[in-house]
Amino acid sequence: MAKLAQKDFISIHDLSFDEIDGIFRLTEDLKDKQRRGEKHEYLWAKSLAMIFEKPSTRTRVSFEIGMWQLGGLAINLDQEAIGLGVRESVGDVARTLSRYADAILVRTFEHEKVLELAKNSSVPVINGLSDLLHPCQALADIFTVREKKEGQLKGLKIAYIGDGNNVCHSLMLACAKLGINLTVACPKGYEPDQLIVDWAFADAKKTGVEMNILHDPVIAAKDADVIYTDVWASMGQEKESAKRKKVFRKFQVNQGLIELAKDDVIVLHCLPAHRGDEITDEVLDGTNSVVFDQAENRLHVQKAILTMLLGGV
Ligand code: CP
Ligand code: NVA
Repeated sequence: MAKLAQKDFISIHDLSFDEIDGIFRLTEDLKDKQRRGEKHEYLWAKSLAMIFEKPSTRTRVSFEIGMWQLGGLAINLDQEAIGLGVRESVGDVARTLSRYADAILVRTFEHEKVLELAKNSSVPVINGLSDLLHPCQALADIFTVREKKEGQLKGLKIAYIGDGNNVCHSLMLACAKLGINLTVACPKGYEPDQLIVDWAFADAKKTGVEMNILHDPVIAAKDADVIYTDVWASMGQEKESAKRKKVFRKFQVNQGLIELAKDDVIVLHCLPAHRGDEITDEVLDGTNSVVFDQAENRLHVQKAILTMLLGGV
């Protein structure tokens, strides 16, 4: 099993097409072994230190159980306990944890903290979500699309409807690398970050991907193979919730929007969802929704990422 070229797993932008393909192939194998109850303890006695400065269900549980299934151990360090950058510097936390653990997972606000941790750590650092990126999520998302669309990714059309946030950014980078057409529909003033747009459009040019950023969800949803949405106010933006509810009102993923897409459209949401805001119950619980398969795939994809980072096969 090839290791990833980079020490850390911070952004999809750092990965090559072949590395992503390798992660997906290993994911298939691990998922299969898991389903058959076959042992796959590729990370026997390895350990993962997990720092969470924000709440989490999927990321925390899937990494913790994933490490256990691989024969290793994960420990959870919440912000109150570790005080990243408060009780002690980010660099000193990185240097200390590197002496105990074989890898570090971090969920934080400022993306710079992830980079600082990686710079000062001698073991791999995994980005479990920053305000800028959510790379583990994007790989699980595309793996889910690959499963549902029978391996055929090239030429598919994804419509991301909502905020140009961390989830949108990582999705853009993944689609650009993997040859998937992507239209982002967001309100004016809530577009993706310019740096990410530049990276994604440069990769899209190389892979021949059609990537658009526009402000009309109806245009985006038309003939889409996949419709994706995320919360209107991300963690840390709670104070903006009321304002955002008004601004994003026309960007709700509801049955009317789904009917504009292809008949076999699949609906993705990274979860947690704010039912009745960015997505209706009817859609989230409807026949096109694959959100819980998507959530499950976080486990399988991350086990592949961990295995490839730590050279376990
Ligand atoms: N999608 C996701 O990262 O979920 P959590 O915030 O629950 O980890
Ligand atoms: N954009 C959301 C994703 C949660 C998984 C947030 O950052 O809160």
